[in-house]
Amino acid sequence: MNNKFLKDFPILRGEMNGHPLTYLDNSATTQKPESVVKSICGYYGGCNANPHRGVYELSVKATKVYEDARNKVAEFINANADEIIFTKNATESLNLIAYSYGLTNLRSGDEILITISEHHSDLVPWQMVARATGATLNYIYLDADGNLSESDIEKKLTRRTKILAVTQISNVLGLVNDVKTLAARAHELGAIVVVDGSQSVPHIPVDVRDLDADFLAFSGHKMLSPMGIGVLFGKRKLLEDMPPFLSGGDMIEYVEEQTTTFAELPQKFEAGTQNVGGAAGLTAAINYLNGIGFDEIERIERDLTSYAIAELKRLQYVEMYGCNSSRDNKIGIITFNIKDVHPHDVATILDAQGVAIRAGHHCAQPLLKYLGQNSTCRASFYFYNTRQDVDRFIEAIGQVRKIMRVD
Ligand code: ALA
Repeated sequence: MNNKFLKDFPILRGEMNGHPLTYLDNSATTQKPESVVKSICGYYGGCNANPHRGVYELSVKATKVYEDARNKVAEFINANADEIIFTKNATESLNLIAYSYGLTNLRSGDEILITISEHHSDLVPWQMVARATGATLNYIYLDADGNLSESDIEKKLTRRTKILAVTQISNVLGLVNDVKTLAARAHELGAIVVVDGSQSVPHIPVDVRDLDADFLAFSGHKMLSPMGIGVLFGKRKLLEDMPPFLSGGDMIEYVEEQTTTFAELPQKFEAGTQNVGGAAGLTAAINYLNGIGFDEIERIERDLTSYAIAELKRLQYVEMYGCNSSRDNKIGIITFNIKDVHPHDVATILDAQGVAIRAGHHCAQPLLKYLGQNSTCRASFYFYNTRQDVDRFIEAIGQVRKIMRVD
C-alpha cells in the first residue's frame, strides 16, 4: 500500500521505535524529498558564494540560484518577483509586516482585526504593535462548526479596521477561510489584508492576485523545503512605502556617516547574507509540488482526512475539534482528545508505536482556551501519507486507553 511518492522520501521508509515511521506532524514541518536535499548539496558543493556582492563567476552563479528562486516563488503564487521578500520563516514575515507597516500606519483609535484561530505568529506581533501605537486588537470568533462567525465579521470589520490579519487555514482546525471574500469586504472599508499562508500554500493553490491579498506570509519548511527560508509577498506600492525592518549590509543604496538611502525592492527588506541554499531547496520543492499538481495533492489529503475522521468517529472516547464543518472546507488536519488521557500521554504512546503526532497548544493558546482545552492532539497529513498510515494511527489510538488503564 505504499504510494508512488515514498521512493523520493528515504526518511519515510525508515523506522521510529522499531516500527515503520508513520509521520503525521506535517503541519509542524514536512519531510524533504531527495531532489530538495540534492539541490541544497548541489548549491553548497557546486556554487556557494555570497550573492549580489562578487563580480566573480561563482558569486554570479549564487546570485542566479537566489534570484531564480524568487522568480519561481513569484510564479507559484502569481506575484511579481520584486514583491517577493525572502525571510527566515512565516513568523519573520509576519513580524516584518507588523513592525514595518503596522508601526508606521497605525494610530490610536485604529483597529487591528484578527481571528481567534490565528497561530501566535499572527497574533503576538499584533499585540505588540497595538500596544506601541494605541490601536485596539479585536478578534473574530467562531461558529459552532469552527468557521469564522459571519455575524462577528459583520460587526467587527468596520471603517475603523485598518488591518485584517487572517490565516487561510487554521493550524489547529484545518478549516479553509474564505480569504477572497474577506479581502473584498476589508478593501471596501479601507483596510489592508494580511494572509497567513503557512498551512495553505503547501496544500492548496494560492494566487495572491485572485485573493487580492495585500500581504501573504509562508514558510518553506512546511512545503518540502529546508528550515530557515520563508516568504513575504507584499503589493509593490505598500512595500515601497514601508521602512526597512532589519538594516545593514545589502539593503542600502548609499551610506553616509549619519544617513542612509535604501536599496530598491526587494533588497530593501533583505539585510545581511541570505539563505541561498534554502532558496535552492525552495526552488526544488516548488518543482516537486508542481510535478504532482494541487488537484492531486488536495484529493489525497481530503481522502486521508475523511477516512481518518470516519474511523475516529467510531471511537466513542475521541473528541474532535473542527471536524463537522458544513462547508466542505476541511483540509488535512485533525485535532482531537482522548477522554481521560492527557494529550502528551497519547502522543508518547503513539510514538512508541512509530506514529508521530503533535500534542500541546499548537502555538494557538487563545484558540485552545476558546475551545475550552489546555492541550490537544493533532494529526496532520501531506500527500505522501497513505491509508496505511491512517490505519496504523487508528490502531495505535486503540491502544491508548488500555495502556493508561482507563478502560
Ligand atoms: N506552526 C507549526 C505547527 O502548527 C509549528 O505545528
